Amino acid sequence: MELMEGILSRRSVRKYEDKPISKEILERIIKAGQYAPSAHNTQPWEFLVIQEKEVLKHFRHMQRSALFAENAAAVILICGREDISFHREKEGWSYIDIDCSAATENMLLAAHALGLGACWCGASPMSGPIASIKEFFQLPENVKPFSIIVLGYPAETPKQPERYNSERIHWEKW
Ligand SMILES: Cc1cc2nc3c(=O)[nH]c(=O)nc-3n(C[C@H](O)[C@H](O)[C@H](O)COP(=O)(O)O)c2cc1C
Repeated sequence: MELMEGILSRRSVRKYEDKPISKEILERIIKAGQYAPSAHNTQPWEFLVIQEKEVLKHFRHMQRSALFAENAAAVILICGREDISFHREKEGWSYIDIDCSAATENMLLAAHALGLGACWCGASPMSGPIASIKEFFQLPENVKPFSIIVLGYPAETPKQPERYNSERIHWEKW
């Protein structure tokens, strides 16, 4: 799939066929995440792949809006590494979520290019889901769950509305 075509045709897919995704495909999607830009090139991400049905069913208890993970083939949990992200503790900022966002979007596009359906479900910055996911998966102290990518072979094809909006583009001055 051509890059621009992929960007313009990607949609969130929440209904899936009952068909597993091979390890090779999952690794290709994660590789796309690992090629994302990150502040100071810290690449502060880790990926937890979940395919066990019972665990997929449990996502609804950790993040209510991710309940359709129960019918998915896999979830890739993208986590940020607080210890290696580019941050300034004294000034109270970190690029961790922004870097993980870039990785998440790369992975959504890769999934789409590989014929899969995917949906980004949020974890960070919501304190409830962060705490539940950290506890359930026993994540290390310095690892923060950022996003839940729900994946499967698509059983729906949402239409793409026109999104180009010239009124939101400002040339030279606002
Ligand atoms: C940060 C973020 C969090 C999201 N969380 C959820 C979620 O919890 N559940 C869900 O079904 N969709 C979630 N989405 C998907 C959005 O609803 C979706 O991207 C948006 O409606 C636009 O649709 P599209 O992805 O088909 O272009 C999330 C998207 C983003 C970027």
